Amino acid sequence: IDELLSEGVAGKRVFVRADLNVPLDGTTITDDGRIRAVLPTVKALAEAGARVVVASHLGRPKGAPDPAFSLAPAAARLGELLGADVAFATDTVGESATSTVAGLADGQVAVVENLRFNAGETSKDDAERGAFADRLAELADVYVGDGFGAVHRRHASVYDLPARLPHYAGYLIATEVGVLRKLTEDVKRPYVVALGGAKVSDKLAVIDQLLGKADRLLIGGGMAYTFLKAKGYEVGISLLQEDQIPAVREYMERAEKNGVELVLPVDVLVSTEFPDLKAKAATHPTTVAADAIPADQEGLDIGPETRKLYASKLADAATVFWNGPMGVFEHPDYAEGTKAVAQALIDSPGFTVVGGGDSAAAVRTLGFDEQAFGHISTGGGASLEYLEGKTLPGLAALED
Ligand code: 3PG
Repeated sequence: IDELLSEGVAGKRVFVRADLNVPLDGTTITDDGRIRAVLPTVKALAEAGARVVVASHLGRPKGAPDPAFSLAPAAARLGELLGADVAFATDTVGESATSTVAGLADGQVAVVENLRFNAGETSKDDAERGAFADRLAELADVYVGDGFGAVHRRHASVYDLPARLPHYAGYLIATEVGVLRKLTEDVKRPYVVALGGAKVSDKLAVIDQLLGKADRLLIGGGMAYTFLKAKGYEVGISLLQEDQIPAVREYMERAEKNGVELVLPVDVLVSTEFPDLKAKAATHPTTVAADAIPADQEGLDIGPETRKLYASKLADAATVFWNGPMGVFEHPDYAEGTKAVAQALIDSPGFTVVGGGDSAAAVRTLGFDEQAFGHISTGGGASLEYLEGKTLPGLAALED
């Protein structure tokens, strides 16, 4: 983007593909981290006199307008954060978008409605996606890719549109890629990775890669129970992916062969039922050893011994990557495991990266200071796929 700015953008229509996919409670944004993350790019372009057209997806609507997924609240928040009026087009490439963009003065910003209200955005059919990208291209003279959270998607606005316009990477993408490189090239050791979240199947490919790169892997969250079961323990009614047990066993063997320390919970908090995340009523969980989960109980967080153990395993790390909560952090009874890992990252003298999605939201909603971490990524799936070594369509499209 610095190259673009030095060429001069005054009067040019610049399409910024952002990721404004923020969590909403009705029309209230519960975490605006992704909007704040794209501000440097939008500000720099507006200050240089560009006519800035911001576009994003939000949620997973079915290729047609759906008010529950409108970008209007995100556009309003962007305006508040910029301290400027932000125009909002009620469609993406239709009459409203065309007239809104035509009405922009130099230095003004507009947001167009959710890209995924159009079937062409996510279509698997190249021609359908291409046709939508052609319509998007009519809105702008230049493309800036800055929606890091979506670069793993082969979608029209991420992959096909940059091929139709002069294209540049924004500040957020540049920062995110710079950070992830530190986790893949010349990594400072010990390199410790904490992985949590519900499903082990979402993390298989990244675990596969990390078994050749990390020094220590700490496992928590719902996925830990498939590891405990693979180890031969009974896990009661805890989340379990039976079909992943052979893969997990193979990982445990490979970790041992490669000298990677694979650390599992030694105790867990259990309850007979999943907590109510809205009412947040007290559930009085009990703490049990990881090999003694009662048959009628569900593991919902790592226990106090595991918290201490994981903190000690993180204490001497030179590089840390953390993705996925350690328990059901949305309920106060099961937030301590996730808090302990977040605190251990803050206390660590090493370079610490929080992967996006739930762990980034956890850090913010649990009240931690974002500045205390080395980097909080805006991309959950995107950062994992980067670490898996995959080619990310939205980065490949910007590379030439
Ligand atoms: C995310 O939330 O990870 C990104 O915004 C991508 O969203 P998606 O998984 O719906 O493509």
